[in-house]
Amino acid sequence: PRPGRTAASDADFVVVANRLPLHLDTTDLDAPRWRRSPGGLVSALEPILRTRRGAWAGWAGTVTGGAHPALPDQDTRMHPVPLTEDEYRDYYEGFSNATLWPLFHDAVVPPDFDQSWWHSYLGVNQRFAQHAAALAGPGATVWVQDYQLMLVPAMLRALRPDVRIGFFLHIPFPPPELFLQLPWRSQIVDGLLGADLIGFQLPGGAENFLQLVRRLRRGEDVSRAPHASVLGRVLLRDREVRVGAFPISVDAAGLEDLARSEPVRERTRQIRRQLGERRRIMLGVDRLDYTKGIDQRLRAFEGLLAAGRATAQDTVLVQIATPSRERIGHYRRQRARIEARVGQINGAFGQVGQVPVHYLHTTVDRSELAALYGAADVMLVTPLRDGMNLVAKEFVAARPDLGGSLVLSEFAGAAQELTRALLVNPHHPVEFQDVMAAALGQDETEGRRRMRDLRHHVRERDVHHWAHSFLAVLHGGSGSVPSGPGA
Ligand code: ADP
Ligand code: F6P
Repeated sequence: PRPGRTAASDADFVVVANRLPLHLDTTDLDAPRWRRSPGGLVSALEPILRTRRGAWAGWAGTVTGGAHPALPDQDTRMHPVPLTEDEYRDYYEGFSNATLWPLFHDAVVPPDFDQSWWHSYLGVNQRFAQHAAALAGPGATVWVQDYQLMLVPAMLRALRPDVRIGFFLHIPFPPPELFLQLPWRSQIVDGLLGADLIGFQLPGGAENFLQLVRRLRRGEDVSRAPHASVLGRVLLRDREVRVGAFPISVDAAGLEDLARSEPVRERTRQIRRQLGERRRIMLGVDRLDYTKGIDQRLRAFEGLLAAGRATAQDTVLVQIATPSRERIGHYRRQRARIEARVGQINGAFGQVGQVPVHYLHTTVDRSELAALYGAADVMLVTPLRDGMNLVAKEFVAARPDLGGSLVLSEFAGAAQELTRALLVNPHHPVEFQDVMAAALGQDETEGRRRMRDLRHHVRERDVHHWAHSFLAVLHGGSGSVPSGPGA
């Protein structure tokens, strides 16, 4: 019998992700509330599930274990997968976010390797696979998401050989020389190869993976067969695994509608009035993560102020930072560094009633975000490494007025598509200041021209295009080869 079979177990489309689109905020223990979950994965997949009949298995963001208030979405699509406090520490904070996350982001901070974290990762992946197996109807499509669940494809295949399994990695896939540091490298690769299709954000990630399979699984036939989004295939004994690149995107039409709505436009005008009509507004919106380059961004702005290329009277930087993974040491230290830097800049360059940096350590709702995008003269998206970065695409989608310029790090996946942004190497302090100054001084006609091109791209390649192309490849062909060179 299938494990944990429930009444809702006949979904023909199942999303499996570490997080549900909503998480339980237990800040007030007497009145826990459901809130939207942070991060790009939820922003991208939430509109997809809305348009399909399906189920979503994920963690509800709490380890309290007790009874939850009912999920607001009562159509039984959301299926919470519980985590214990130890699993939260070892699987989520440990293996997912202190081992895999830094390793996959160029090791910008050193990854930690811990055997007990690995065991927890194994156990939690098995639980997610069981939930997915229980939810999927016969022959269903199951779409497994991201680095927290890389063992799920093979575990699910063992439980349910009848389902079609897709896997998409939202973060970068590192070059083999970095990945090979991982003591459990072979198990992770075997886990991923349980899928019928493995998707990466960029062709580079897919190539890294194919090279790695060649190194680790010498018996297998790995071919490079670039065809549209599919860049290669791995021929296993009894089936074929396709590997491709599918750059994720945003709900461009939805954001544009929001940006055009009167309440948002009124809020944009209000923000501009509050910050000073004559000041140029620079904006940063990120999870507070050391990969996002917030500290380097603040330092570049500090450099502009110190050199007199900007002043508190003519320029303001608004930095919105979502609290994220707050108990992990590197995140705590990063937050302390950022907050100290904001204090230093405002202390040195501000005056009563006029500070150069407005820093908010909070999540804001979609309308407020759209209003902020609308108010920005310069959007700063400057990660040190990022799988894609949806904020860059959201900003573009939210500017039907063609205003504002986008400063974008070369190290964000989005830079491969948004080539008409002002690209910057955030590691280069002088260049960073120059590009910021260029964005602040950009000629209006040139800015509108660039924004038109950027918008064209983001509207054509929106999140529906992303999901559709991934799922079309997943369904194109059986994925099984009865006999062949690897058989
Ligand atoms: P990541 O997935 O690493 O967090 P992305 O840029 O791809 O990075 O996605 C971040 C998502 O989270 C975007 O949809 C963005 O709008 C949202 N977001 C980031 N910061 C905030 C914030 N302070 N308040 C609300 N939403 C935020
Ligand atoms: O897109 C990367 C990602 O890690 C998602 O998998 C994740 O849901 C999001 O960022 C936010 O991180 P977290 O779930 O750890 O709060």
